[in-house]
Amino acid sequence: MLHKNNTAPVSELFRADPDRGRHFCLRDGPWRFDYSRLPLDRDGLDALSALPETVNLQSAVADLFAGRIVNPSEQQPALHMALRGDLAAAGDEVVEQRRRFLDLAGRLHSGALGLTDLVHIGIGGSDLGPRLVADALDEDDSAVSVHWLSTLDSRRLERLLNSLNPETTGIVIASKSFSTGETLMQARALRDWLGEHFRANTWAATARVDRAEAFGLAREHVLAFPSWTGGRYSLWSSVGVSAAARIGPGLFNELLAGATEADRRFSRQPDASSLSVMLALGMHFLRRDLDLPTLGVIAYDPRLGLLSDFLQQLIMESLGKGVDLQDKPVDAPTSPLVFGGRGTDLQHSIMQALHQAPDSHPLILVGSIEDERARPDWQRAQLANLLGQAGALAHGRDTGEAFQHLPGNRPVALLLTQALDAHGLGYLLASFEHAVYALSVLWNINPFDQWGVEEGKRLAGEYERRLGEKPVDIDDLPE
Ligand code: F6P
Repeated sequence: MLHKNNTAPVSELFRADPDRGRHFCLRDGPWRFDYSRLPLDRDGLDALSALPETVNLQSAVADLFAGRIVNPSEQQPALHMALRGDLAAAGDEVVEQRRRFLDLAGRLHSGALGLTDLVHIGIGGSDLGPRLVADALDEDDSAVSVHWLSTLDSRRLERLLNSLNPETTGIVIASKSFSTGETLMQARALRDWLGEHFRANTWAATARVDRAEAFGLAREHVLAFPSWTGGRYSLWSSVGVSAAARIGPGLFNELLAGATEADRRFSRQPDASSLSVMLALGMHFLRRDLDLPTLGVIAYDPRLGLLSDFLQQLIMESLGKGVDLQDKPVDAPTSPLVFGGRGTDLQHSIMQALHQAPDSHPLILVGSIEDERARPDWQRAQLANLLGQAGALAHGRDTGEAFQHLPGNRPVALLLTQALDAHGLGYLLASFEHAVYALSVLWNINPFDQWGVEEGKRLAGEYERRLGEKPVDIDDLPE
């Protein structure tokens, strides 16, 4: 099936251009981004690469790093780069805030506080980034086991608390607003469970110090971060304290350093030679030139299994907008629906449809070449599966039997690093943040607000009041 940009099938593009594999890829920091299997010829790539200039991306990037208002609906800058680096625009406050939460993380990680478990309560950006980092970089050397509570699941909470001791369990309430219903309901349950240990064993990572103190936290246990930190950009702030407690402040600092290196790369030269911008241009091509409404992120390094969950919020909550910066309805599609998970698992669930069903679902396959702690044969099998899926998606297969036919020409890109480490993960996550920003500039939308989630929350409150305490009859639900 030829795509709307009318290139020849990818197999033909490779045959006609022996140098394609090298030309349609880039190296940036520890990452290699290979987009040669996208249905894009050299003219198409040149046209894409010229787009940043047409929207003066360089100037928009300068605004971002200078702390200018890039979130007009909330009249806020977006200085998440300052949380991990030394951005002058943010002042010294963030340095002290970072010192405080990393100091606590170090005492938790070493066991100096005598705690064996840490329960992190948070949702969305107050959960997804820290959980991904803790999962990806866990070296099993922490004094604390970290347990992640996000959505309301009282059975899981009961099971967890039956296994914990309030004397040796710490709680982190992560909430920028300190007003998210799910988080506060769970925080109240944990406050009751901790009893006399509550004030000594509970910390908050929040931009609303007043609300955290009103909840009963000791002031010195409130780990503040600035209100210009977007929830989905808050991993780098004290919201990351639980991840830092699990992996250790040393690795967390390496994560911050990797992200800062990506910041400097993006601010220095935001063009198609950078991973951030090429990710943006690839997503632009898939969403607007090929009109493909989905995007899969599939991890063939199992440590990145939660990457698609993190990117689901980062991309969809940032780019899922219906009006532009002039408050006019957008005249083209915006966010794709992001899905994903772990590589070979999905080969036994969704890949049949992605190979043979008529609809095309573009994929980014993310993996690593080596992992010193993995079994070499398993690591090699992961890489072989990644390359095998990419080959089948791009080139298809024709056996003469219709039911065995794979059309191929399914857009797939590879994002590989030689060996995944904290620095490389930081570089990758920051690069995706900047890719989202670059796309927002291309699409003239605000990536830093999320007004779309407010009405659901408001209605939920109304229904909670209408449902009240009485038994609910399934055939008598309020309209
Ligand atoms: O989903 C809406 C949202 O505001 C996200 O942007 C945010 O990450 C999440 O809810 C949690 O918000 P908070 O950190 O304020 O509890």
